[in-house]
Amino acid sequence: MQGKIKKIQFISLAIFFAALLFLLLFLFITRRNNSYKNKDETAEKAGKLILGFSQIGSESAWRTRNTESIFEAAAENDIQIIFDDAQQKQENQLKAIRSFIVYQVDVIAFVPIVEDGWENVLTEAKEAGIPVILVDRQINADPSLYAGFLGENGLEEGRRAARFLLNKCRNRTSTVNIYEMSGTENSSVVRDRAKGFREIISTDPKFKIIHSEDGDFLRSRGKEIAENLITSSHRKDGLFFEGEKIDVVYSHNDSMTLGMLDSIENYGVYTKNTIIISVDAEQKSIDALTAGKLNCVVECNPNLGPMLMALVKQIALGDDIPRVTYNPETVFTENDDFSTYEPRGY
Ligand code: AHR
Repeated sequence: MQGKIKKIQFISLAIFFAALLFLLLFLFITRRNNSYKNKDETAEKAGKLILGFSQIGSESAWRTRNTESIFEAAAENDIQIIFDDAQQKQENQLKAIRSFIVYQVDVIAFVPIVEDGWENVLTEAKEAGIPVILVDRQINADPSLYAGFLGENGLEEGRRAARFLLNKCRNRTSTVNIYEMSGTENSSVVRDRAKGFREIISTDPKFKIIHSEDGDFLRSRGKEIAENLITSSHRKDGLFFEGEKIDVVYSHNDSMTLGMLDSIENYGVYTKNTIIISVDAEQKSIDALTAGKLNCVVECNPNLGPMLMALVKQIALGDDIPRVTYNPETVFTENDDFSTYEPRGY
């Protein structure tokens, strides 16, 4: 009998807690939906444009500045942003874009982490009548699925890096061994920076790419890659890959380059006669250039915000936007007058 009562008490308690849990869950969902609705209504009442923006993450100082630039320009243009940080995962970007569609934003902008896998979600956006702008990176998809691309000219960045190298080695006749550190695999920017670079160096057979390593655009990877080169060669008179002297490092971004410099410094490796070329032009890499640790830094301009907002407004008026809009970019080299450099701001 006693046992039976205890069992009934236990079941009643379990039912009570289950009901409580259900109630809390219900309250949480309704509150959340209401707050979305309020946000929507507020923006609509204010006649504000709503931009859904999916960023890939914050892997570099470049990326952080890119996000800041977009937020600053949105505020200046009175455009409301619904932001999602994909933490370097394409699946998170797909989810974010789908949520922007459900939310019925006016325009969607996103930085495609990789080139492939966007057709379905962009078809959904098109069917919902929401125009899409690609920011910073391009995709492999039917061009009718997006309104246009805004960002850097990666091909030209690769060519600029190679042109510097050609000029620097113009009097050299022996083979020039190049070690490449590339960024995120299957991203358009990596494809373009590699392609543009090869296009120019292939005009002279003395240039040889001895290895290409994926550093995922991360400082930690650049550091690790250099550490592996140093510890496996057991030498401090330069960088070596499988017994071959590395004459040139071509690094696809500053984060990886700065990571490599960390290891070079930690192990006390002599790299004065190693040509190091980087891309982005963060303040820290410009400082390394002026300190003689780098030879060339190709700019990749992260300040895309003002141009993006101009395109968003143009689309909202029902106008077409250019298929491709490039941000102006330059090159910084060891031959410059450093006193003319302005602070980079990232
Ligand atoms: O897509 C642009 C690249 O992504 C930048 O060069 C790099 O720093 C960033 O992570």
